[in-house]
Amino acid sequence: MRARPVRASGLILSSRAPSSSSTCPQSIPYNAFPPRIRFDARGYRPSRRREISPLGAAVSAAQNIISKGLPKAPPGISVDPLRIVGKELKFLTKNIRELLGSGHPMLDKVAKYYTKSEGKHVRPLLVLLMSQATALAPRNPNAPHVNPDRISDPISSPLVLADSNPDTSPLTAPTKYDLADDTNVLPSQRRLAEITELIHTASLLHDDVIDNAVTRRSSTSANLEFGNKMAVLAGDFLLGRASVALARLRDPEVTELLSTVIANLVEGEFMQLKNTAQDDANPTFTEDTISYYLQKTYLKSASLISKSCRAAALLGNSAPEVVEAAYSYGRNLGLAFQLVDDMLDYTVSGAELGKPAGADLELGLATAPLLFAWKENAELGALVGRRFGREGDVDRARELVARYDGVEKTRALAQDYADKAVDAIKDFPESEAKAGLVEMCHKTMNRRK
Ligand code: FPP
Ligand code: MG
Repeated sequence: MRARPVRASGLILSSRAPSSSSTCPQSIPYNAFPPRIRFDARGYRPSRRREISPLGAAVSAAQNIISKGLPKAPPGISVDPLRIVGKELKFLTKNIRELLGSGHPMLDKVAKYYTKSEGKHVRPLLVLLMSQATALAPRNPNAPHVNPDRISDPISSPLVLADSNPDTSPLTAPTKYDLADDTNVLPSQRRLAEITELIHTASLLHDDVIDNAVTRRSSTSANLEFGNKMAVLAGDFLLGRASVALARLRDPEVTELLSTVIANLVEGEFMQLKNTAQDDANPTFTEDTISYYLQKTYLKSASLISKSCRAAALLGNSAPEVVEAAYSYGRNLGLAFQLVDDMLDYTVSGAELGKPAGADLELGLATAPLLFAWKENAELGALVGRRFGREGDVDRARELVARYDGVEKTRALAQDYADKAVDAIKDFPESEAKAGLVEMCHKTMNRRK
């Protein structure tokens, strides 16, 4: 296939992407966050400032030559992201299960429980696509990220790491790390993909306890199957193993990013315990209401996607503007993803979702569709204040969401973020992986579960 010319323009620098340490400050109250999310009169974020990369034209000429080795997506034709990184994903579940081995048979069983059912693997898929898509983008000549080729090897003695464990932990045993034969994804990036799935699954184990869930991925939830205590402990175990795997990447910035994600998940979940910043039985809708919700949404959902996309670019030793673009893509896609999730809770049946539908209002949560209705009708304040706890509240809330087009407005906001995600990577060299990242934005908007 003939190489398409690569545009000579530079990459976008997000006005919001954090500095290279990329961490949200710890222990900062939520009301310190909203200023980072501003809205225009429609209630949407304004488009980002654009800057032209100085690397621009010279680099794109080089890319034209290098990129001949990678398949290009035909213009205008969408590609199947799963096909592009299918080989990589084939080993994902197997490698994750090895990371989760425990000498305690019950812990082994509970920890691996959610790896049995087929998850969507959205986060690892994005990390793998981002790794491929940035493989051709400009490098960072100054700060090479070390790519350990023996990421399964312990640094401490296996005797120390497995001292009181009845069986040798697979992590510390000299097991073979299964690699797909793809030279465009580094072993460290593949391990990063596995780590994102571990962190995500740990958060689901905990979330299902908090939400008292009965199903997950069309099966009985872990909390119902094994009880709350084992589900929480299994989640902790996953985090422990994810931390070891992360440490073995030997990249302090990536370690910092993914550790911050774990803290962010908890911060987001804490924010979700309340619907608004106002501690009031009858809160009023203000612009801060949306800011609070979006900040929570970033912490709970977009942080993992954005910071792992950023980490993938860092591990690939990408140039700073490429790293920022990867982060911006992940941040915007992550926000779109959760907005669609909140929308589907109103629109899709439980059978299709693989988990109970309409759960958010039942759990007392005021998500985007409800907030858009509340903006138009102050009556909803009292219902939000009592977390839809009175008989008839849930039905009334649904009625008002329908009347004020809460679902449609949520979709429009999600589309806005999805468009920004596509825009963020527009100057990546053309490749199938880039087309796959774009397709992930379309899939996010069209998904039914
Ligand atoms: C699903 O939300 C849950 C999350 C995206 C994050 C949950 C985070 C925690 C419980 C904090 C603890 C984190 C770790 C890493 C242990 P949802 O309830 O809206 O979605 P659902 O319908 O799929 O349950
Ligand atoms: Mg839940």
